[in-house]
Amino acid sequence: MRYRTLGSHGPSVSEIGFGGWALGGEWGAQDDAESIRALRTAVDCGVNFIDTAAGYGDGRSERLIAQLLASLPPSERPLVATKTPPSAGPWPPSPHCRWEDRYGAAYLRDNVEQRLRNLGVERLDLLQLHTWTRAWNDDPQPLLVLRRLREEGKLGLIGVSTPEQDQNCVVQLMRDGLVDVVQVIFNLFHQEPLAQLLPVAAETGTGVIIRVPLDEGVLSGKYAADHRFPEDDFRHRYFAGDRLRRAVHRVAAIEEDLQRLGLGEPLSLVDLALKFALAPPPVSTVVVGMRTAAQAQQNAAASELPNLTPEMLALLARHNWLRGVWYAGK
Ligand SMILES: NC(=O)c1ccc[n+]([C@@H]2O[C@H](COP(=O)([O-])OP(=O)(O)OC[C@H]3O[C@@H](n4cnc5c(N)ncnc54)[C@H](OP(=O)(O)O)[C@@H]3O)[C@@H](O)[C@H]2O)c1
Repeated sequence: MRYRTLGSHGPSVSEIGFGGWALGGEWGAQDDAESIRALRTAVDCGVNFIDTAAGYGDGRSERLIAQLLASLPPSERPLVATKTPPSAGPWPPSPHCRWEDRYGAAYLRDNVEQRLRNLGVERLDLLQLHTWTRAWNDDPQPLLVLRRLREEGKLGLIGVSTPEQDQNCVVQLMRDGLVDVVQVIFNLFHQEPLAQLLPVAAETGTGVIIRVPLDEGVLSGKYAADHRFPEDDFRHRYFAGDRLRRAVHRVAAIEEDLQRLGLGEPLSLVDLALKFALAPPPVSTVVVGMRTAAQAQQNAAASELPNLTPEMLALLARHNWLRGVWYAGK
């Protein structure tokens, strides 16, 4: 495993991080014992960064991670990044939402206490606001509340996870020095952050966590166009309409490039997707959803594969897919 610094002053984090959403639920059946095996395997393979959230199974993902932490000596415990969601209301927050109603000071304090209890720790390594709206950029009080909580010793780093329809809303927060870390969607299909978000992260020394590197699994190439996700798997909705068919068609084009580059062996599509997500220098870590020990092992191993060359990246640029969010199938 290779390691990078989380922002200019942050801790050293593994290039491959553990994405803990599916451990909580919403991805069809997930066995807790298998989740713990996946977490342990990842740590054994050098993963020292785990991403989770309050909303992943109403704390189930956090509580499983707490079990892992409790089983390890302090010096071997991975860093855990969790998230506080806004209180009930539209997701992402609408431009009409007031921060007082969604991320009020009392609500944030109470939520941070819940995160500490669920993770069984006295201080959160990194707390991210789970979503944001640029409507709050000029009066970003919730981030100042988190600063006070940091001064009180409740948390370390402060982050914001981007709303997918307006990822660049965090650009001003980075320039205003309000966040240590941002969490961003970036993958072979979604290359837009290269335009501004990642350069500003580099300019401001902000740490960057890349999420959804496999576009919810489809970039692994393992789903057929007519694959049906169970109704209790959120991907039943994510890939609604003809989105899965179109995605699978596009994955086939990526596979052709993989062959053309002569990288078919030993680089798999998963490896290619992870190395692509790791390619921009401002990226600190790539959190991949891992549900089994085998996935943890394969994903962790991708870090040490040779980096993609500028020529390969130039070829892969053609897979950028400007998907609208204007109908259910996206
Ligand atoms: N708003 C936010 O802040 C936000 C939103 C989304 C995600 N996240 C974070 O980002 C993390 C990663 O994103 P994600 O989990 O949504 O999506 P992802 O990493 O793009 O995809 C995860 C899925 O890819 C498949 N997969 C993983 N490793 C594989 C391997 N080696 N071989 C074949 N298939 C493999 C698995 O699918 P199967 O289940 O079919 O096996 C897995 O569930 C999340 O876990 C979460 O921590 C944050």
